[in-house]
Amino acid sequence: MKHAIYPATLCLATMLALAQLPAERVCHAETKEQRDARMDWWRQARFGMFVHWGLYSGLAGTWKDKPVGTRGGMEWIQQRVGADTYEYAHEAVPRFHPKEGFATEWAKLAREAGCRYVVFTTKHHDGFCLFDSQYTTYDARDLVGRDLCREITDAVRAEGLKVGFYHSVIDWHHPQYDYDKANRLPHPLRGKPSPNGPRNHDIYVDYLHHQAKELFSNYGPVDIIWWDYSKEGNEGPFWRAEELMAMAHKLQPAIISNNRLYHIPDIEKEDSSGRLRTWKPEQGDFTTPEQTIPATGIPGVDWEVCMTMNTTWGYSEHDDAWKPTQTLIRNLVDIVSKGGNYLLNIGPKGDGSIPEQSITSMQEIGQWMATNGEAIYGTTASPFDKPAWGRYTAKPGRLFAHVFDWPQDGVLKIPASDRKIARAYLLADSDKKPLKVEAAANDVTIAVPAQAPDENVSVIAVEYVK
Ligand code: GLC
Repeated sequence: MKHAIYPATLCLATMLALAQLPAERVCHAETKEQRDARMDWWRQARFGMFVHWGLYSGLAGTWKDKPVGTRGGMEWIQQRVGADTYEYAHEAVPRFHPKEGFATEWAKLAREAGCRYVVFTTKHHDGFCLFDSQYTTYDARDLVGRDLCREITDAVRAEGLKVGFYHSVIDWHHPQYDYDKANRLPHPLRGKPSPNGPRNHDIYVDYLHHQAKELFSNYGPVDIIWWDYSKEGNEGPFWRAEELMAMAHKLQPAIISNNRLYHIPDIEKEDSSGRLRTWKPEQGDFTTPEQTIPATGIPGVDWEVCMTMNTTWGYSEHDDAWKPTQTLIRNLVDIVSKGGNYLLNIGPKGDGSIPEQSITSMQEIGQWMATNGEAIYGTTASPFDKPAWGRYTAKPGRLFAHVFDWPQDGVLKIPASDRKIARAYLLADSDKKPLKVEAAANDVTIAVPAQAPDENVSVIAVEYVK
């Protein structure tokens, strides 16, 4: 028993209870204060960049000269065309040519956009590893002659950003990944007999654990582990998840983990906040609504919305459903006003270059953040109901009114509170010229210029008397 690692603040009864648990559970024991300290940078950060990049990126949504479709995740192309791993690799490997310095371009764009962290695919469902693994030759070292995971990790750190590893527990390459057993999860060979005879799920899970150990041991500090994904019946114990989590915490004591090693119900439903709250703290630090913003947030837990800029995570040359930058900025504001983080995806091409539309949007978000970032970073959910004209975020002693629909009559109304307002001004105004404020019984009215300073979102900072 590893008594030495018990936090001193735990009472004797808790220590005795913990002493009954297997060693790996004990490693994760932490007080609320310790957990808050570990989560602090992530809660302040509010905005991260997701990157989906792998062999599928070179295929670009095209299979044997035909578009596979114009919408949906093209990182699933192997599954969509039903190819086995050999046929897939035969098509995809020759189209995957990372150019020198690609990772620096990603990292610089993330920083310019105002992201504070980057989460990228170390391995997606196709099983191809961007990191150098001694347990497979289906990795970047063997197929491209480079450790792409190291290049990306180094570049992200060089820009002062935190590093997150996305890692798929689903694996369409490994010959012992037993897709009959993993029958709640997708596999390109579903319905067909295993080409290599009966499979042994335990051997695959050992492989998963060995590779996790490589990721947690060989790349310096890993700030986030972003597992993907599970379904009821193929979750938790199916991956020996407790051991994986314990390993993560042992090798990377400060790591922050999502909860996708466990059951994740209805992550794509806007009204799913009740169900999204049902996981236990030891199953991960935050939950991950996907492609949707929960209507009223997910109070009481940490959460992060991940979202694409068009409709695919991995690059597709056929998907032109790009969200306008204004939508992306308003999504960020909406999420932060409800207490969540925004993880916005880019899908670089097979040479690592980023699609033009994504570059433009990230730069435009960056321009907005340069002026309005203080209304995003380190803020907490709105203390008031959602106003018709926009959203609120808050910091101690300050309220930020994010105006989507600029008032036609030159007056913005915010709810009265028991705190007196010291001053209000536009974040876009570097002189912080005070706006005229009038307090009435129910509302406070703020006189604003006729023209919105920013057509995406204009922010008014309200400072309360201390
Ligand atoms: C889903 C998809 C996957 C994508 C992920 C991002 O689980 O399977 O392609 O990587 O969501 O959240």
